[in-house]
Amino acid sequence: MSISTLIAISHTRYVVVVATAVLLLLGLAVTLSSRSLYYGYSEPGILPGNEINRTTIPGLTFPQKIWQTGPPRDRLDPSLAALMSTWESLNPGHQYTFLDDDAAMQYVTDRFSEYHPNLVALYTDLDDVILRADLLRLLCMWADGGVYSDIDTECLVPIDRWIPAEYVEATSLVIGIVADLPENPVENRRSEIVQWTFLSKPSAKYTVKLVEHVVANLHNYAEEKNISIGEIGKTMSVGDVMRITGPVGVTWALYDTLRYHLRAPFEWYNVTGLREPKLVDDVLFMPINAFGSNQQHSHSGEAGYGPIFLKHHFSGSWHQNKNG
Ligand SMILES: *[C@@H]1O[C@H](CO)[C@@H](O)[C@H](O)[C@H]1NC(C)=O
Ligand SMILES: *[C@@H]1O[C@H](CO)[C@@H](O)[C@H](O)[C@H]1NC(C)=O
Ligand SMILES: *[C@@H]1O[C@H](CO)[C@@H](O)[C@H](O)[C@H]1NC(C)=O
Repeated sequence: MSISTLIAISHTRYVVVVATAVLLLLGLAVTLSSRSLYYGYSEPGILPGNEINRTTIPGLTFPQKIWQTGPPRDRLDPSLAALMSTWESLNPGHQYTFLDDDAAMQYVTDRFSEYHPNLVALYTDLDDVILRADLLRLLCMWADGGVYSDIDTECLVPIDRWIPAEYVEATSLVIGIVADLPENPVENRRSEIVQWTFLSKPSAKYTVKLVEHVVANLHNYAEEKNISIGEIGKTMSVGDVMRITGPVGVTWALYDTLRYHLRAPFEWYNVTGLREPKLVDDVLFMPINAFGSNQQHSHSGEAGYGPIFLKHHFSGSWHQNKNG
């Protein structure tokens, strides 16, 4: 019998309290056990052959490029086409690229086969559309830079107006906040960064680190389960995906990397309640409204929490669909 059935059968406070406690404990257990996948306060374990070649220094401005990825266009819901067109129409000076599955495979091969053949092999072996999509957005940001945004997002403000001029040169990676929940009893879930939109200069230090962490998470998961990379997709739960390549994993990767590079604590409280952009090293954290305005929590949509740049419609969002 599920917990929700229990609640439906008995309306006593007691059952609800017990059920809530069980849920909290489950959440905590999952969160704690998942931490073992991860390398707190340290560099991720870089596997031989996966060393990152950092020869490119990020430029002074963000490349005028927009990246979106998804299934072949003729299989896309027409409502998505309308959202996707907002990126091109509001940013006529940008080069727009849509990568479907085949184009994405070609892109990864073109960009990475010379210096990172293991990354190409990993991407090829990763026979799961969600895991590939999570990795691909970071690879586009690393190799080319510009903006990545999910196909169910609607651009509302031209990209050139997103970053206050005084930050453009010093910033290499722009990060939105999706959850800012200081009351969450699980401490390392009080903050979550947006994974549906990134703005990055090519070879930005923290962007490359996000790829390293995600790659390490995938290899570690396969090793723990004693399976091949190609079998990961079949065995993963939604929670696993969230932690390994998804928003939770990317949040932990970024905060861990910041701690490591800055030799300082970096937790949810460093980016809570943002009303202005906050530059940490060369990562610019935006207030919740920038990328996450369309939600029911975390001061999302409230005046005073920064301007709104885009709207996430959550329509093609599998995370939302599987959870909801
Ligand atoms: C790293 O990449 C640059 C070109 O981007 C290349 O010239 C260099 O040889 C590469 N180094 C290694 C160790 O792969
Ligand atoms: C891992 O899986 C292989 C078969 O795929 C098996 O031979 C081996 O014993 C397993 N190792 C462990 C530690 O379970
Ligand atoms: C995060 O906040 C703590 C407490 O205010 C501070 O000591 C630490 O330096 C901050 N971390 C960074 C990277 O700014």
